[in-house]
Amino acid sequence: MTQPMRPCATDSLYKDLEAKYGLREVQLPENMHLRPLNVFDLDAVDELEAAAFSPSERASRERIEYRLRTCPELCLGLFKREYVWDEEASEGAVGVAAAKATECKETIVGHILATKMLTDTIVDEAMEIPDLDKRGIPVNKSDKRGHQETGRFIGIHAVAIHPDFQRMGLGFVMLKDYVQSLFSLQTADGISIIVHDKYVSFYERNGFENRGKSECQYAGSTWLDMYLPFDTYDDRSWE
Ligand SMILES: CC(C)(COP(=O)(O)OP(=O)(O)OC[C@H]1O[C@@H](n2cnc3c(N)ncnc32)[C@H](O)[C@@H]1OP(=O)(O)O)[C@@H](O)C(=O)NCCC(=O)NCCS
Repeated sequence: MTQPMRPCATDSLYKDLEAKYGLREVQLPENMHLRPLNVFDLDAVDELEAAAFSPSERASRERIEYRLRTCPELCLGLFKREYVWDEEASEGAVGVAAAKATECKETIVGHILATKMLTDTIVDEAMEIPDLDKRGIPVNKSDKRGHQETGRFIGIHAVAIHPDFQRMGLGFVMLKDYVQSLFSLQTADGISIIVHDKYVSFYERNGFENRGKSECQYAGSTWLDMYLPFDTYDDRSWE
């Protein structure tokens, strides 16, 4: 059987990445797959959050669950897939799409978690959870904490790549895919995130602007506000 290829949208992004940064010499993992997250991914996301962030900066399991239940469409996962191939049924098949697998194991490698906000800057309230009723709906509709369904701004609360897979270009690929998907949906005006100094260039490469010191005091740290406005975003700018 022909060796499987990477079977997902990530393919073209890998090529972009190689062209832009000359990462050809880096051995990128095969069979990487991007898909929206949901509450069934809670255990995996919780473990990855613990592996990627310090205990004080990681999102609690409760906050992760809230985001996955409330706005899964804003939460993206990057998974490594391992297939067990049915050799007989796959005889002569070219590529994964045509081959038959008897088993597919998914392991999470990266995630992005976000909520919608009413303003273009992340504030502490955006990261909190409102009081919810038994159905998971906010008790007080004017509660400013957490996800604001009518908001036009995406607030990213976590971008994580498992330490075993960092500095291979995967964070860049995942973030780029996320930004492009939301840009094309046109349901938001921009994306905001708070970051530490050392990650400014990582976000600038994906079109974010550094807006200086944030008012946010999450985990008692100093943060910088970064913002990507969709009105000037050109998703073909670096082709
Ligand atoms: C930030 C993060 C998602 C980047 O993912 P990644 O797959 O490692 O990133 P890429 O390989 O696509 O890009 C690497 C670039 O990111 C930046 N970067 C990544 N890790 C870094 C580190 N430990 N220190 C400084 N810069 C770093 C650099 O700009 C780097 O470019 P370089 O390798 O040319 O120096 C990942 O490092 C991570 O999960 N960190 C821990 C969680 C975190 O702090 N997330 C960001 C705040 S929400």
